[in-house]
Amino acid sequence: ASPAAPLVMRAALSVAAVLVPLQILAGDAHGLNTLQHQPQKIAAIEGVWHTERGAPLVLFGLPDEATRTTRHAVEIPRVASLILTHDADGELRGLNEFEGVHPPVAPLFWGFRVMVGVGLLMLAVSWLGWWQLRRVQWQPQRLPRWQLQALRWMGFSGWVATLAGWYVTEIGRQPYIVFGQLLTRDVVASVPASHVALTLTGYLLVYALLLSAYVMVLRYMSEKPLTSPTQGVHA
Ligand code: HEM
Repeated sequence: ASPAAPLVMRAALSVAAVLVPLQILAGDAHGLNTLQHQPQKIAAIEGVWHTERGAPLVLFGLPDEATRTTRHAVEIPRVASLILTHDADGELRGLNEFEGVHPPVAPLFWGFRVMVGVGLLMLAVSWLGWWQLRRVQWQPQRLPRWQLQALRWMGFSGWVATLAGWYVTEIGRQPYIVFGQLLTRDVVASVPASHVALTLTGYLLVYALLLSAYVMVLRYMSEKPLTSPTQGVHA
């Protein structure tokens, strides 16, 4: 068994507890920058169909492009305006100003909520985990089982949030390939779809292989039993 396990857990939780809030602050700043340069992306993320003052923060809902509304929306009044303009009555430009040249709404709306939801979960789990680990003198084997399981399941959270954020950025740029200058449909090459599908499948296979190797190494390392309290941190 590796005497390093308690140290690794302590280091990982400490780093996460500091970096996760920084990532959230960076995300907030990122949003303000996007509002300035790509307002239609923000309108899609927030589900703002029509330009409005005091726009609510839509927590959940079903964006429907056919009726250009968000069905079953659960909202907090005026908070989207407050976050993005620092004024509860601030104006947010709606998708109505960008008809025909805004990204598909549902993938952005959901991608963003997955990213932020995972970010908030990371914050809760890392802070609670750090605090609890400190209470048990940094000996992970004394943590309750549910907490170790939660930490294990959070192993992939960064990957999920990163992928969701990347989707938001890339899908949110559509229908442009060069924002505001060049439409994606104007630069589509004449390469047959079957060739593209073949290359894509190749990439997917390589990445699936890399991912499974990574998971196998992680499992191998995590299944080594933890050391006794007398070893480890003081070893
Ligand atoms: C919890 C609060 C968060 C907020 C408010 C936030 C905000 C944002 C915004 C607004 C964008 C899109 C910017 C744009 O395309 O113009 C973005 C992209 C992104 N986010 Fe987040 N984010 C948060 C959490 C996270 C977390 C926890 C991660 C990863 C661990 C993450 C990773 C990313 C990535 C990789 C991108 C794409 C960047 C790019 O390709 O340029 N975000 N985020």
